Amino acid sequence: VTISVAKSGGNATSGLQYGAMEEEINHCGEGGLYAELIRNRAFQGSSKFPSSLDAWTAAGDSSLSLKNLTDPLSTALPTSVNVKGSGTAGLVNAGFWGIDVRPQKYSGSFFVKGKYSGSFTASLLSPSGKVLASTKVTSKSKADSWVQHSFTLTPKSKSSDTKNTFSLTFDGSKASSGSLDFNLISLFPPTWNDRPNGMRKDLMQAMKDMGPTFLRFPGGNNLEGDTIPGRWKWNETIGPLKDRPGRATTWQYQETLGLGLVEYMEWCDDLNMEPILGVWAGLALNGDVVPESELDFYVQDALNEIEFLTGSVDTEYGALRAKVGHPEPWKIKYVEVGNEDNLSNGLESYKAYRFEAFYKGIKAKYPDIQVLASTIDMTIPEGAGGDWHLYDTPDNFITKFNMFDNYSKDHPILLGEIAATEPNNGGAGIDWSNTHFSLYPWWIGTVSEAVLLLGAERNADKIIGTTYAPFLMNLDSYQWSPTILSFNSNPDETARSTSYHLYSLFNHNIMTNTLPSESPDSFGPLYYATGLNSKTNSHIFKAAVYNSTADVPVSLTFEGVGRGTKADLTILTAPDPFTMNAVGGDNLVKSKTTHIKAGKKGEFSFKLPNLSVAVLSTN
Ligand code: AHR
Repeated sequence: VTISVAKSGGNATSGLQYGAMEEEINHCGEGGLYAELIRNRAFQGSSKFPSSLDAWTAAGDSSLSLKNLTDPLSTALPTSVNVKGSGTAGLVNAGFWGIDVRPQKYSGSFFVKGKYSGSFTASLLSPSGKVLASTKVTSKSKADSWVQHSFTLTPKSKSSDTKNTFSLTFDGSKASSGSLDFNLISLFPPTWNDRPNGMRKDLMQAMKDMGPTFLRFPGGNNLEGDTIPGRWKWNETIGPLKDRPGRATTWQYQETLGLGLVEYMEWCDDLNMEPILGVWAGLALNGDVVPESELDFYVQDALNEIEFLTGSVDTEYGALRAKVGHPEPWKIKYVEVGNEDNLSNGLESYKAYRFEAFYKGIKAKYPDIQVLASTIDMTIPEGAGGDWHLYDTPDNFITKFNMFDNYSKDHPILLGEIAATEPNNGGAGIDWSNTHFSLYPWWIGTVSEAVLLLGAERNADKIIGTTYAPFLMNLDSYQWSPTILSFNSNPDETARSTSYHLYSLFNHNIMTNTLPSESPDSFGPLYYATGLNSKTNSHIFKAAVYNSTADVPVSLTFEGVGRGTKADLTILTAPDPFTMNAVGGDNLVKSKTTHIKAGKKGEFSFKLPNLSVAVLSTN
């Protein structure tokens, strides 16, 4: 394939090509990125998932019972556990299917109510009950009020097993009423940037290494909620943990809301990502839609949320942000109105009045915000953009390579959820009745994603950016696979998938401008995008080979790039089309970088094998 790249005539890209997406699914936050180690720490419940003693067992001779006391810890956390026993009494937590123990400082706390004159013992225990770390906490507890106690645990060595537990015990004979009430029992390992209530380090490191430029949050279906009252309410996700009530996710479990709006923004700060904020748009997954006459309240709620994030401390919600510890306002450039409003019976009302009401409301107060519709199945008003999602088979991905060529740049598109999920099946497409598609991204799927990404990069003035979804999965409890990162309670076993390596390669070779190319050969089996990084003055060629019977010879010239110019050529391949990177396993994607020189006519000559992804970048 001969390719000649012009030196001008392309378009500036959005600069945000590859990002990340997060909603609470697959225990990606709770029991994942959000580093809390105690499962069901505050016995939060909902009509869908009533409060329970899930993950808790009694220690020693004690018994546990859930109580809704007349004087609870807070209105947000009405249920606590009563621990009764005359000898060593207490409770044991199984963690998010285990607790990783290594020589580092764990920071814990708990609230207790009831008169007690002894001390508490907080411990990490091995599956056989061996004490891995333990500390005594002198009681400050009182008969009639909730008192918080804090402690640290520093194990001496790394445990070979991560099925460890946490226990909190006391001497029941010294509790004056024979029992004590506990709530909000929490334990954190060291977190990314040492943030309190922070993020798990290995997962943040993996993301940092991949280099995402934006974060789309908080959903996804989970933003929408199953019902209108069950929606994700931003104001219930902020402030002290005791004031966060938790909610039923749309993904078969309760969330604590410990990972809330502020934590999402801190995550963006920590990884230098542009936030793409999803606001609730009047549609729940059960198909209930807010009528036009009642929509103002929700538009105002979205404006309040934006003011909370961006307003000065002189505004009502900016002041609230300062009160919860963040006087400095953030910047929000992108707001997406809802999620997949083309589904769940939402499209007609979205087209008729819902999108417009949010769009006009946001633009009137925040004219610089780029507002995005959550679908492109509608006429998008001037100045707004849209979001498009694709879950499909590899062959179907290839058919979408050209789909952005004729789009108008007046309505930029976010590719907010993209994943090859199910192997080729003769064009039947995916089976939506079962969202356990392939467990992990697999190589042929990854290459097909690369082809779609290249179609987007060729049009990178029209595409805001692309993200894989869902992003993370706890292998011990998940609802939807595949994801770009998978993990369990052992941080050493986190899997960076085949698609992770694609995104990482493309992300580390960002084009600031596309450059037009010409070729006598049409696209397929070689697909590519060409451009320039004006900051480094590198010319860039990104490519993927899908369904070729032989290696593809490439002769590539960039106008103005002469003989002897050096370039790095990185080629990703895998042992076979179904190669997957599994939790606890090795990275099987092979990455080979060679240094090549342009020939007499400035041509770079190389061969790309079938099912490969490549980037050439001039030095
Ligand atoms: O990514 C999983 C789900 O797929 C999202 O919640 C939803 O937006 C999409 O249908």
